Amino acid sequence: MELQVIDHPLVDHKLTVLRDKNTPSSTFRSLVGELVSLLTYEATRDVAVEPVEIETPVARTTGVRLSEPRPLVVPILRAGLGMLDGMTAMMPTAEVGFLGMRRDEDTLEIETYARRLPDDLSGREVYVLDPMLATGHTLVATIEYLVEHNAKRIVCICLLATPEGIAEIEVQIGDRADVTVVTGAMDLGLNEKSYIVPGLGDAGDRLYGVVD
Ligand code: URA
Repeated sequence: MELQVIDHPLVDHKLTVLRDKNTPSSTFRSLVGELVSLLTYEATRDVAVEPVEIETPVARTTGVRLSEPRPLVVPILRAGLGMLDGMTAMMPTAEVGFLGMRRDEDTLEIETYARRLPDDLSGREVYVLDPMLATGHTLVATIEYLVEHNAKRIVCICLLATPEGIAEIEVQIGDRADVTVVTGAMDLGLNEKSYIVPGLGDAGDRLYGVVD
């Protein structure tokens, strides 16, 4: 697994406003979009492209375009949805699939409650959007699913991550898959309720309000 913690003053500035508990949902949502666009810029450095011949008003030249099959973007519901616009603003021709994951409070297993993805991911680069890499359980379950369906490369874009979450991916996935985690910051760790510290609270609630 490769880890990229983005070191950029604009990322730090936007994250600081996101962390502030007094930042309202409307500002939070637009800042998440801006931050994801910055993270996407770094996360897509190795996206597959192919040469394409075009004609400018002056001459013929060779440029590049995203290769087929197109990259697949997968927001993890609910909070990952808040990251989708920032990603597609940067890569409008990517395809989008959806995964809904939650923890069963009795078994503590991660269960999938919604899935809209191509069955065959052979040769696909998959960009997973999950704002908070906390325990790592959701991302491990997601990566397992994508690997079982033959994804070629998996890039997870997170606003915040923890050492515990990164360690969980390293232990559970190791070198079985080509996985990169791109995060805006590496926080201190988890509290007793598995919230990221200092973190920003519940990302879904901050984006969309509290739903019981
Ligand atoms: N999910 C969140 O939304 N926030 C955390 O701090 C941890 C997991």
